[in-house]
Amino acid sequence: MAYETILAETRGKVGLITLNRPQALNAINSGLTRDVLEALKIYDADPAIGCIVITGSDKAFAAGADIKEMQSRSYVDNYLDDFFAEWDAMGRVRKPIIAAVGGYALGGGCELAMACDFIIAADTAKFGQPEITLGVMPGMGGSQRLTRFVGKSKAMDMCLTGRMMDAAEAERSGLVSRVVPASELIEEALKAATKIADFSLPAVMMNKEAVNRSYEMTLAEGLRFERRVFHSMFALEDQKEGMSAFAEKRKPTFKNR
Ligand code: CAA
Repeated sequence: MAYETILAETRGKVGLITLNRPQALNAINSGLTRDVLEALKIYDADPAIGCIVITGSDKAFAAGADIKEMQSRSYVDNYLDDFFAEWDAMGRVRKPIIAAVGGYALGGGCELAMACDFIIAADTAKFGQPEITLGVMPGMGGSQRLTRFVGKSKAMDMCLTGRMMDAAEAERSGLVSRVVPASELIEEALKAATKIADFSLPAVMMNKEAVNRSYEMTLAEGLRFERRVFHSMFALEDQKEGMSAFAEKRKPTFKNR
């Protein structure tokens, strides 16, 4: 598959997507949207892939939606195209996606990172929703996802002032799962992704599905969902293998990985 705005390569069982519009700090235009969603779809369908990593450059994960491409859009263009709705497809990717963020993750860049399953940040990362400075607001999920990650007070602060959050604050607030030195970002993200990809793929996918359900249902419904999925996992050969290996003090060899 020939892409214009990303690099897509496999590293063992990991699909690595590198946003690659350096001249625009990886601003998200229609081409990049198409390329990222296509690569995600291909990796999600590829049985050899167990986890996906999305990263950018040292300077920018992505500096937002492409302001120059969107500035002349009208309300009716946005409404008829359902502008940004294509990103809903990311929510249908069933394998885990890790965002490896170095440098700027602003506006749509922060929103793209938050649409991944978790974020590993370089110590150089800077997160923000600066849309207010352009006379608008987040449109790719920022007002909703950022609030769930960091709570109302900080999300309001970020969206209303447009200020950036550094990596330490992002980790403290629960936006990112860990912070690593910038020089080790890709290595650490690939290490985490490889670890995930070495586990039982159906077990990984069920874990992802269950955690994501917690965003969308009540606690009682979520607990019931978790219990039912947990029960069903005992139909997996990988459950038998995982538990036998523990009892026999050996490393498991999962079949579905
Ligand atoms: N869209 C289009 N082009 C962008 C861009 C964006 N979001 N961000 C940066 N660029 C371009 C710049 O225009 C510049 O191009 P030229 O060399 O052709 O002028 C190039 O990338 C390098 O950028 P800077 O010269 O500005 O680099 P800097 O180091 O001085 O500043 C920055 C870096 C602080 C990130 C600054 O580029 C910036 O503020 N970018 C815009 C951030 C922003 O407002 N993002 C939100 C976009 S709206 C959105 O995302 C809506 C949504 O919810 C989906």
